[in-house]
Amino acid sequence: MDSVLVLNGPNLNLLGTREPDIYGSETLDDIRAKTEGRAAERGLAVDFRQSNAEHELIGWIQGAKGQAAGIILNAGAFTHTSLAIADALAAVALPVVEVHLSNIYRREHFRHHSYVSRQAEGVICGFGSESYVLAVDAMAHVLGRKGENRTSRKAAPSRTPNKASRAARTATKKKRS
Ligand code: DQA
Repeated sequence: MDSVLVLNGPNLNLLGTREPDIYGSETLDDIRAKTEGRAAERGLAVDFRQSNAEHELIGWIQGAKGQAAGIILNAGAFTHTSLAIADALAAVALPVVEVHLSNIYRREHFRHHSYVSRQAEGVICGFGSESYVLAVDAMAHVLGRKGENRTSRKAAPSRTPNKASRAARTATKKKRS
């Protein structure tokens, strides 16, 4: 079973009491349960973590290589500041779905830029805790698509003609002339 690393950045441990008008009243544990539930329906395992420390998030991203099939990331405020997290994502080259509870594009201007987005397959924001459920669906889609590509690449005929087919074409041309 593919495993997805779900990382949460600073202050997301305070969900439930933190600015509930923006982030809702569910706790991070509630969101973990929702995320794990949807992942199970999608045949994915989830490793769900939170840290307030940039270096810890970076360590977890680095450790995901060869362990996780993809990363769902809510980097919190590090989204808007951390080139180091973006570099770690680029280094591991795993599929990333960026997620936010709030619609960052409806909020202050300084939240409109994300260092994570450039490394992400896509971004889901603005749906509260449901953003995480949608992010699992998005990750299942991305992983499925990659699987399909692998199969179709195998099935696709080679574009470079091999020796035998070149010889056959030359024979046909000769016959015609
Ligand atoms: C957030 C949005 C960020 O701008 C903010 O700093 C957060 C939470 C969200 O989930 O909406 O901590 O990532």
